[in-house]
Amino acid sequence: MTAAERAATTRITAARTTTDRDTAGPSAVLSAEGSAEPSAEPSAAPVLTAADLIADPGAHRVLTGDRPTGPLHLGHYFGTLQNRVRLQDQGVEMFVLVADYQVITDRDLADRLAEHTENFVLDYLAAGLDPERATIFAHSAVPALNQLLLPFLSLVSVAELSRNPTVKDEIAHSSQAAVNGLMFTYPVHQAADILFCKADLVPVGQDQLPHLEVARTVARRFNERYPHADGSAVFPRPRALISEAPMLLGTDGGKMSKSRGNAVALGADEDETARIIRGARTDADRRITYDPTGRPGVSGLLLLAALCQDRAPETIAEEIGDGGAAVLKRIVIESVNEYFRPLRVRRAELATDRGHLRQVLRAGAERANAIADTTLAEVREVMGAI
Ligand code: TRP
Repeated sequence: MTAAERAATTRITAARTTTDRDTAGPSAVLSAEGSAEPSAEPSAAPVLTAADLIADPGAHRVLTGDRPTGPLHLGHYFGTLQNRVRLQDQGVEMFVLVADYQVITDRDLADRLAEHTENFVLDYLAAGLDPERATIFAHSAVPALNQLLLPFLSLVSVAELSRNPTVKDEIAHSSQAAVNGLMFTYPVHQAADILFCKADLVPVGQDQLPHLEVARTVARRFNERYPHADGSAVFPRPRALISEAPMLLGTDGGKMSKSRGNAVALGADEDETARIIRGARTDADRRITYDPTGRPGVSGLLLLAALCQDRAPETIAEEIGDGGAAVLKRIVIESVNEYFRPLRVRRAELATDRGHLRQVLRAGAERANAIADTTLAEVREVMGAI
């Protein structure tokens, strides 16, 4: 199996995330337990394969997003960007959210927000997202989306939010002294992001599953509490699209991160790429082997070369043999620079026209606003608001 096959973008499984009904649900006040699912709700198959998608790509709407906290890097590319482009090319409708409002979840200042947001668009387009087919927009440009929070927050208990493992984890790793309300309610914000456009699929990593479970719960409770007059449901219950892409480690052996300075940005030039990879942490054993647990540094580099070359990391390790870290790094540098050359050429061309990037965001916001306004009007109607 080649690394790219392993990277899995072809094998996508949709997890029906933990419980379907909240077995540990907070209280009868919050959920009308026992009432039937609204009939209009599609019965979601627990596993969604790429084949299902290809069979009926038009039946799905995908929403994904990134917080613009720093430049997108190779981990994003192999972890999600490549997959988004593939879904788009299969004919699945894509919504890509630049979650600019949410940058302040775990930091006090939103640094150079507009610039980061535009650069995300640059990376998306260079990677192959097509604004004619994918709706790319900034969170802060869609006020009606954010208004969904008010009813949604009323559907989730404080106890449920405190139990959410992803929130707990983010709180544990936060540099902020106190947990702010935005972080505490983050899964509900994500629910609004997903449900405003009635997305039914959300490509996420394993760690994000509990967040998605909240979105499913919000959708179900909203539908139960506020059905349309004919009994039909307002929201679909979104499912997770779990990509099996391997996680690339940062050059310090930790999680590759936009804000930790341990990643090669998509927009880095060849010299910078070489400098960062040369600085990666490896070990003293000259024999190169692929052993992700025992030798995370060496293996991370092998995986990166393997993804770029579309070959197995073990094969590349064998070829290097006793060449040591220096040969390994040279091969990784060449592989990355070669693989990303066309993307970087496109990126450099696109970067000369910042007006175009802003225009993509404007067009995306226009479309997202039209959808958000419609959804909000529907929500207000079923809630009996004027
Ligand atoms: N939480 C995601 C991140 O930190 C970004 C995001 C915001 C998102 N809203 C979303 C992802 C909705 C998927 C669905 O990168």
